[in-house]
Amino acid sequence: MKDALEPTQDIGWLLEAEGVHPQWEGDLEARFSVSNGFLGVRGAREVSRGATLVTLAQTLRPASWPRTYIAGLFDVPDIDPPVPALMPVPDWLRVRIRLNGISLVLNNERLISYHRTLDMRRGVLITDWRQFVSGDHVARVRTLHLVSLAQRAIGLQLVQFELGQAGMDVSLDASFDLVGSGLEVFKLFADAGLWRTGQSAKSLAMASVANLQLAEREIPPDQSTPLQWSWGWQSRAGDCAQLTRIVAFRRGNQDLHGLIDSARSELEHARTIGWQDTLSAHEAAWSGRWHDSDLQIDSDDSAQTALRFAIYHLNSAANPDDEQVSIGARALTGDTYHGHVFWDTEIYLLPFYTLTWPEAARAMLMYRHRTLDGARAKAKRAGFRGAMYAWESADTGHETTPEHITIPDGRTVEVLSGKQEQHISADIAYAVWQYWLATGDDDFLREAGAEILLETASFWVSRANLGDDRLYHIQGVIGPDEYHEYVNDNAFTNHMARWNIRRALETVSLLRQRWPEHWRALADRLHLDERTLQQWRNVADALAMGYDPHTNLIEQFSGFHALEPIDPAQFAGRREPMDMVLGRERTRRSQVIKQADIVAMLALLPDEFDMTTQTTNYHHYAPLCAHESSLSNSMHTLLAARIGATDLAMRHFQDTVATEFGSQAGASAGGVRIAALGGLWQAVLLGFAGLSIRSSIPRFDPRLPAGWRSLGFRLQWRGRLLKLQIDAAKPSFSVTLEAGESLTVSVRGETHELNPGRALTI
Ligand code: BGC
Repeated sequence: MKDALEPTQDIGWLLEAEGVHPQWEGDLEARFSVSNGFLGVRGAREVSRGATLVTLAQTLRPASWPRTYIAGLFDVPDIDPPVPALMPVPDWLRVRIRLNGISLVLNNERLISYHRTLDMRRGVLITDWRQFVSGDHVARVRTLHLVSLAQRAIGLQLVQFELGQAGMDVSLDASFDLVGSGLEVFKLFADAGLWRTGQSAKSLAMASVANLQLAEREIPPDQSTPLQWSWGWQSRAGDCAQLTRIVAFRRGNQDLHGLIDSARSELEHARTIGWQDTLSAHEAAWSGRWHDSDLQIDSDDSAQTALRFAIYHLNSAANPDDEQVSIGARALTGDTYHGHVFWDTEIYLLPFYTLTWPEAARAMLMYRHRTLDGARAKAKRAGFRGAMYAWESADTGHETTPEHITIPDGRTVEVLSGKQEQHISADIAYAVWQYWLATGDDDFLREAGAEILLETASFWVSRANLGDDRLYHIQGVIGPDEYHEYVNDNAFTNHMARWNIRRALETVSLLRQRWPEHWRALADRLHLDERTLQQWRNVADALAMGYDPHTNLIEQFSGFHALEPIDPAQFAGRREPMDMVLGRERTRRSQVIKQADIVAMLALLPDEFDMTTQTTNYHHYAPLCAHESSLSNSMHTLLAARIGATDLAMRHFQDTVATEFGSQAGASAGGVRIAALGGLWQAVLLGFAGLSIRSSIPRFDPRLPAGWRSLGFRLQWRGRLLKLQIDAAKPSFSVTLEAGESLTVSVRGETHELNPGRALTI
């Protein structure tokens, strides 16, 4: 049998790191996370004393931050301001090895090598550590861990230990650690534990089994403490000991005993099939995901690596079986943003899932449907109708954006996005519509999507005010560019709102035509009558859009053009964000933009603007952007590719890559920025491959950047699996229908019929 701890041979599938560098530890641990959308585990060292600190400028900062998260396990911990946060759960990977009573810890002076490999193809983290222990005797510790993609409750750990010296007293403890967790222990058993959150009435069960084989023989543990196993033996040179530990986690509400039974039965299943089959089932599930979502770029290794990494984390973050949760801004890889769900999910992540894993996309949209009541309550409190979604959402859909934060200089500043960043409601409606167009999932639209579209439209109509100019205005908002608060008629917000209202009206026609009974029930429940719908049309037709026909420019918000022009390029090399360099007030009075705003709007709504408008506005706004959010460059890539500025697109693409793999230590320590990764994928598919989701037909208008010889990928469309290959040299565009019925596709504006199994090459 092949050695489970040997990584895949092809380095194209590996993310590797050598040694330990305290200032980088946090970033590495986030990037080397394994996750299955239910469980997420940061890639911290297992054989260690747990969290470690590093002294930086005489202050202690976390260096290693071992964490396991469970999607949806929110509580309000003791943080200021108190907002719901994803609670870390027991760190189930702790291992302690003692030699003659002294703990083996990584010691840079005695270290021979410490190599970490994230095997993205198999979804496992492997480490190999060699260190001198006494004289020139060497200890070698190899580890592998995973959280199963085939059985999401399960985590598996293997630890192999070899010692070059005979006659030492060796002891190995496998335990768990609760450091930093706000969970309260309810009950511990030898094989399982139950914990409760302090406030949110949630509970957690973990069941676990561990065994140790020494030179092929199983040796019995001493297990006097719950969930802790200890073994001791005398070393013989070259003997290999292997610890195997399996855990099963369950998240629940109040039924504590039911929960522990359920964790035990998950564990029983994995234990019965054994760790090898648990590993194989997990690898098979990963190879299924890679089959459907991998992307091959010929002749740009750095882009290929970045995309693999992005796709690895995107596949890790989702769980198609859980409609209670969605993906937070750092997925399950770190504490930043407390696990809260932003517009990042619908605008930056959903396209990946909709087009490669529709079941996962559906579950995330169902989370938005389930949290509609929270959105309705927020709208009502603010005096509006319909549904105003939380800018930051946890498990209930109620607003969880902190009202203030403390900035690095110690001052407390008010956070207004929870009140004013309202475009998220239209962003969610946008994702619903795109999902429906690309999947044709009528059941979803009828049962859930329609209600989201109608309730968000209803919100926008009540939100807009008729001005003396006979136009409707949306005042006092924040657009994606968060440097400017309390602005009026932010073009992104207004265009997305108008699009939202119009799609809702289309949905009404569709329901009336196809599911009249359903429409009557919904109209009744949401109090929609003809007069209301007429008002929707009025608002959509007369919303202020900020377009100047003389210049073709769309003003980012009312009064933007009159602000102080400042060129962010003059501050190149700055180490601080522009609002710190200029000060908050001056930034607010300037034209410096935090992140793609008009550019994002143009990228998302290609049908609303002609090419001249898109091109003019891209060239006007791109230089004003400070790209202070990791969400910014990917939208610029997409738009630049669409207007044919492939060199600029490539520059933005490389800047996105640099943000995630860049040289600023600590940037990813709080978790990978999953929206940047989704944005990267999106920039390739919707930008360079030129795919657009505008009707029931997939449309392609490819523009590969110079230097890319070819691009290959698969995607799903309305129940079909398509395989695509774009070659720059020939040039050719080839698409094969691998599964499903015939389909019409459009390439560069011409439609073609696609038949099963046959490649269409253009
Ligand atoms: C960005 C937002 C984003 C949030 C979470 C902020 O810095 O400005 O657009 O939603 O981070 O990623």
